[in-house]
Amino acid sequence: MGPPGAGKGTQAERLVKKFGMKHLSSGDIFRAEKASDSELGRKLASYMDAGQLVPDEVVVEMMAKAVTQAGDNIMLDGFPRTVAQAESLDEQLAEAGSPLDAVVVMTANDDIIIKRITGRRTCPACNRGYHVTFMPPKTEGYCEDCDDVELTQRSDDCEETVRQRLEAYRAQTEAVIGYYRDRNLLKIIDVDGNLDAEIVSGEVIQALASFEA
Ligand code: AP5
Ligand code: MG
Repeated sequence: MGPPGAGKGTQAERLVKKFGMKHLSSGDIFRAEKASDSELGRKLASYMDAGQLVPDEVVVEMMAKAVTQAGDNIMLDGFPRTVAQAESLDEQLAEAGSPLDAVVVMTANDDIIIKRITGRRTCPACNRGYHVTFMPPKTEGYCEDCDDVELTQRSDDCEETVRQRLEAYRAQTEAVIGYYRDRNLLKIIDVDGNLDAEIVSGEVIQALASFEA
């Protein structure tokens, strides 16, 4: 969990490789639906491009399906984002007999967030993330892992929309961290997302290693 640009996707990419987990990003799932230009995709776009949260009933239905399909050993990224979503996820995981093990909470300062988000680029083929300054590809504008694929910028990555997303995070999502902190059996891993990505990965890997089978 963490605000936009804290590095959730960047760290999730690294951690799933390290631990052989499945990465489930609600944002990526919604962007794929958006790209299909379906009626649902257009509905998602109307919230996402305004920097607002997608309504809970839509999120819960889509993510419940994705979690069921993925099975266990999942790294969730961007979900749950409201207490209602967290409660619904708890119910689903309890029924499946596979509750959450840990929550990684990442922080980042607003000025860093704005720089990271406005400079982010993504490969449309493999979804690998880059940053024009902080994590540039070897050849400017092109994915390192794919042949001749140009990087793209997310439609919600302008400064104005990022500020809306930050507001939504503070108003609706921060409470979910409190919801998880109140649990005795859940491991909470707090990391400073302002730091170098390698340092952040190292800290989270060390904390998560205790869950390795
Ligand atoms: P989502 O896709 O989840 O976006 P977000 O939460 O705003 O987070 P980001 O993906 O922007 O940031 P990130 O933390 O993943 O950062 P990244 O690692 O890429 O959601 C998008 C929208 O979908 C929402 O606004 C909402 O409308 C909707 N939505 C999704 N889930 C929902 C839900 N559950 N309920 C309701 N609505 C929902 O890093 C950013 C950049 O910084 C990259 O360029 C990266 O290279 C760079 N970087 C990362 N870490 C570092 C570092 N340590 N040092 C230097 N650069 C770094
Ligand atoms: Mg992300």
